[in-house]
Amino acid sequence: MVQKWFEEAKLGIFIHYGIYAVNGIAESWSFYNGRISYEDYMKQLDGFTASKFDAGQWAELIENSGAKYAVLTTKHHDGVALWDTGFSDLNVVDKTPAKRDIVKEYAEAITKRGIKLGLYYSLIDWSHPDYPSVYEGGRVPDDPGAANPFSYPTDGIQDEERWQRFLEFNNNQLRELLTNYGKVDLMWFDGDWERSAAQWNLPAFKTYLTSFNPELIINSRLQGHGDYKTPEQGLPITRPEGPWEFCTTINRSWGYVPTDNHYKSLNQIIRMFCDCIAMGGNMLLDIGPREDGTIDKRQEDILLGLGAWIRTHEEAVYGTGEGIHTRYYLGGSTVSKDRKTLYLFVYDNPKESVCLKGLANKINKITVLHSGKELTHEIHGGVPWFNIPGTAWIHMTPEDAHENVTVLKLELDGELDMYGGSGAVVTHN
Ligand code: GLC
Repeated sequence: MVQKWFEEAKLGIFIHYGIYAVNGIAESWSFYNGRISYEDYMKQLDGFTASKFDAGQWAELIENSGAKYAVLTTKHHDGVALWDTGFSDLNVVDKTPAKRDIVKEYAEAITKRGIKLGLYYSLIDWSHPDYPSVYEGGRVPDDPGAANPFSYPTDGIQDEERWQRFLEFNNNQLRELLTNYGKVDLMWFDGDWERSAAQWNLPAFKTYLTSFNPELIINSRLQGHGDYKTPEQGLPITRPEGPWEFCTTINRSWGYVPTDNHYKSLNQIIRMFCDCIAMGGNMLLDIGPREDGTIDKRQEDILLGLGAWIRTHEEAVYGTGEGIHTRYYLGGSTVSKDRKTLYLFVYDNPKESVCLKGLANKINKITVLHSGKELTHEIHGGVPWFNIPGTAWIHMTPEDAHENVTVLKLELDGELDMYGGSGAVVTHN
């Protein structure tokens, strides 16, 4: 079940940390797609040192970013566990020079700062010998030989027993994660697409997970049995139904890929964040630490910059809800809990004014949030006897703008009331 804290969190930090950072290549997919052999991929185990990993520093950075929760990849599709699992020696304690339980240190540091604890766990395990034992939905494809051997039995023979063994393995690892690291607030699954709901043993699997903590939030990548939607990389244009979270990378990669210089700017990240909260969602912003546990300055700067912007505009972020439709205002917006304050996000420099249509309320006061400057406005048009409001033109010039997104605070005479009609002919004047 989605908890209140999640809907109010607005920002989470996603962390893709794993052996893939050693060569700086794509997490798991690089061997799955044949860009590197499985053997060479796994050689990265020898280079994973976590030598400068300081969970306290991560937690501090996350707190400074304004995020209220964090989600760490405890195990990606490659099957390498970041904790001391007793069910496979493919883990960083047994198989890498790091010899540390990363999940333990992370969980302690995150929890200590009052940040909600999220764990990513890949349902898929492309290293487990029992994983490629059945096909999606149990249907043998026309050409089993063409199936990827990491996912499916390419000889066409399905082995249910092995599949059941694999599910038990996942359950065992998940029990470790959900019982050995304090209270886990959120489980972030990935990879459900390779098997059907029945094969993942849903909904019983979900009941199993929540038996460890009834307040556990589970993302939607569980063949429709999760609690909230997770659109990825492409910002939704239509608001996803129900609670949702947009996950995104800062450059193009989830993990640490030093050759990927395609970074989004701070301004773009802030705007994307505003787009999410304006549509009632959260943003889960990803960082990919280096193998030694340090974080690329460009990623750190984005987190700190976003945090600084959020702190300046806190009241427009936390405790607010979804804003008004862009037909009313060509930008993002949020509404205060009592619905008496409307916050407009001004993305660009206005020429002489900012235009707001359809507002039936009287505006008592308009303030530029970061400077405290009060702005005047004028109303034009409207047909009072048909209750069709006029257009509010808020006087604002480029000098009033914040270097990134400007927020205008509009205090209304009552609860927000927007007109949504198609206008009318004025029959008497
Ligand atoms: C995709 C990818 C994976 C990444 C995830 C994050 O599902 O499989 O590599 O971890 O997105 O949302």
